[in-house]
Amino acid sequence: MSGLFITLEGPEGAGKSTNREYLAQRLREHGIDVVMTREPGGTPLAERIRELLLDPSDETMAVDTELLLMFAARAQHLAMVIRPALARGAVVLCDRFTDATYAYQGGGRGLPIERIATLEHFVQGQLRPDLTLVFDLPVEIGLARAAARGRLDRFEQEGQAFFEAVRQAYLQRAAAAPQRYHLLNAAQPLAAVQQAIDTLLPDILERSRG
Ligand code: TMP
Repeated sequence: MSGLFITLEGPEGAGKSTNREYLAQRLREHGIDVVMTREPGGTPLAERIRELLLDPSDETMAVDTELLLMFAARAQHLAMVIRPALARGAVVLCDRFTDATYAYQGGGRGLPIERIATLEHFVQGQLRPDLTLVFDLPVEIGLARAAARGRLDRFEQEGQAFFEAVRQAYLQRAAAAPQRYHLLNAAQPLAAVQQAIDTLLPDILERSRG
């Protein structure tokens, strides 16, 4: 594969979507073929799985169901969008990917890491993101921003302890593989976050032309 696979991670309210738009725009100014997408979702079928995952329902979703639906949506997304885009040499900017599974289903729900790793290998083979931007934010700030946006989805209805565990899982993964992860302080004003993204641009441009 010749493209570049970049993922954006972090809690709700960290500004991932805004910063994904910003990075896409900067790359396009340099003539780069950029595909913006998200998980769970990114194809019509995977977006339907997203609705199942995010819509609150009277029936409690078992944690293994949640895990398998995440990977079912991912398998569809990889087959229809991510792998074809990488094969033609595009830069894929994906709002969340498997790091979110490690953080939310692993950290938040407490599922064993090995179970996630087994599915990761089954669904992705050797494919991993080339670069992951982690937008880090104190839990209270993220929850307040999410609440201000309106109706809370099934994950946003979780409490402080769940999101502390999610945050810690992201921080641990970032610390364990500093060559792949870039930690960004998302509590700063947007202009400062975007300045930090700008410092990554030369490396991203070089690798995308690689
Ligand atoms: P968002 O894209 O609007 O942030 O919503 C997606 C939600 O799904 C978010 O709360 C994180 C959650 N999620 C997981 O729990 N596991 C995953 O693997 C992914 C991709 C998302």
